[in-house]
Amino acid sequence: MGNNISINKEDLNKNYNVLLKLLASEYVLYLNTLSAHWNITGSSFASIHVLLEKQYESIKNIIDDTAERIRILGYKVPVSNSKYLHDAEINNISESLNFIDTVKSLCKSYEDIINLLRQSIKEIEKTDDFGTEDLLVSTLKEHEKSLWMLDSHLQKSA
Ligand SMILES: [Fe+2]
Repeated sequence: MGNNISINKEDLNKNYNVLLKLLASEYVLYLNTLSAHWNITGSSFASIHVLLEKQYESIKNIIDDTAERIRILGYKVPVSNSKYLHDAEINNISESLNFIDTVKSLCKSYEDIINLLRQSIKEIEKTDDFGTEDLLVSTLKEHEKSLWMLDSHLQKSA
């Protein structure tokens, strides 16, 4: 293992496992966002279709950054559909929901991954792995913003 970033092996292993769970969860969030982008219907279709495209592009970058962080810590990145679906902390959403339920389901995916990120940041903080911590904090902020934008579709206009 070629790690030379001065973090002990035990902490590296812990952080690797935290990142694996996040990678799997981001993957399912990515699929859920694609599903909503393609399948959502309703009078706000045009605007939410474009918003969801921006959001899945952002998640794609987060997936890449998370996988590359795993490499920076000195590990190989497992790439397996079934492993990701098994390890993720969030569930797939159905493609046959109406507008409101699609947005609600996607909001729930964001809430779940935000909770996972909060727990993960607390774990990473104990190891002085500031690079991983910074990645997770910026990911958390990005997801909180996406959740705000989606949730606004569930609010009544003033
Ligand atoms: Fe598209």
